[in-house]
Amino acid sequence: MQKTVERVDPAFRADVLNGLAEPIPAIPARWFYDRRGSELFDDITRLPSYYPTRTETALLQARASDIADRVGRGGALVEFGSGSSTKTPIVLDALRPAAYVPIDISGDYLRDSAAALAADFPQIDVIPVEADFTKPMALPDKVRGMGRVGFFPGSTIGNFVPRSATDLLRHFRTVLGTGSKLLIGMDRVKPVDRLIAAYDDPEGVTAEFNRNLLRRINRELDGDIPVEAFDHEARWNDMLGRIEMHLVANRDVAFRVEERRFRFAKGASIHTENSHKYGPRGARLLLLAGGWTPLAEWTDANEDFALILAEAQPDRFAP
Ligand code: AVI
Repeated sequence: MQKTVERVDPAFRADVLNGLAEPIPAIPARWFYDRRGSELFDDITRLPSYYPTRTETALLQARASDIADRVGRGGALVEFGSGSSTKTPIVLDALRPAAYVPIDISGDYLRDSAAALAADFPQIDVIPVEADFTKPMALPDKVRGMGRVGFFPGSTIGNFVPRSATDLLRHFRTVLGTGSKLLIGMDRVKPVDRLIAAYDDPEGVTAEFNRNLLRRINRELDGDIPVEAFDHEARWNDMLGRIEMHLVANRDVAFRVEERRFRFAKGASIHTENSHKYGPRGARLLLLAGGWTPLAEWTDANEDFALILAEAQPDRFAP
């Protein structure tokens, strides 16, 4: 059946059609998150082998008041890509900001979670902003003049290649302004077997999350990709310090997306995600390159995950 053209996001179509035709086929990870993909990601965060979410949550719980002492209370907390975060109430409880600005592209979801938080924290002015946090935007007038703290948890920064991560950090600096702070979660480099287990769980949830992208293409872009012909693979790329997710053809396969035809030989892959892991110095260098000066850092006992507080200091003449 022909799909309704108006309902297809043109950026999704362009990324898929162009990405599949690249010499190294790749589709940006942001397209994982349709309704089913978001549910599967929520399931991933509860898997025993996926340590980042529970480690970061525990770290926030344990260190919330230290963090609040460093950040200061009573300003505006701006969360980039707020999603279904269970971490937000922990931070709101500790920081007691005057205003909370969650920024998310998914409007319905954003409004529901903002309403729930406003009910739980009646003394905080909750001002949701429906926007793509990677794009130019202005903060609501109400937070003008308030001290600002950005919150970017979950090691989402790891899903951007360093060049884009640096651009994104600079963009956060522009949005929040000089003198603002940023609390960011970054996953640490660790033994490869643990990293692979986190991205290739025995329950097969991450495999389903990865293959759901093909189902989304079939549904929204009138494709006929045989989903079972692609296997999920998580690879550690040591040179680039990242976990890569791929969909690897387990046989020669030909398919169509809209009017375009594609062929994949057995063993060929579609690269679907990067998840960069940082050591302590690499993390700080990334922040500095993005215009943020690290002030403090908190990690769990295993040093699996780090929360870093950084400041957008004024540009100074430097030797
Ligand atoms: C959203 N992001 C930080 C997750 C990560 O760990 O890179 C996405 C994910 N992909 C597979 N599992 C989780």
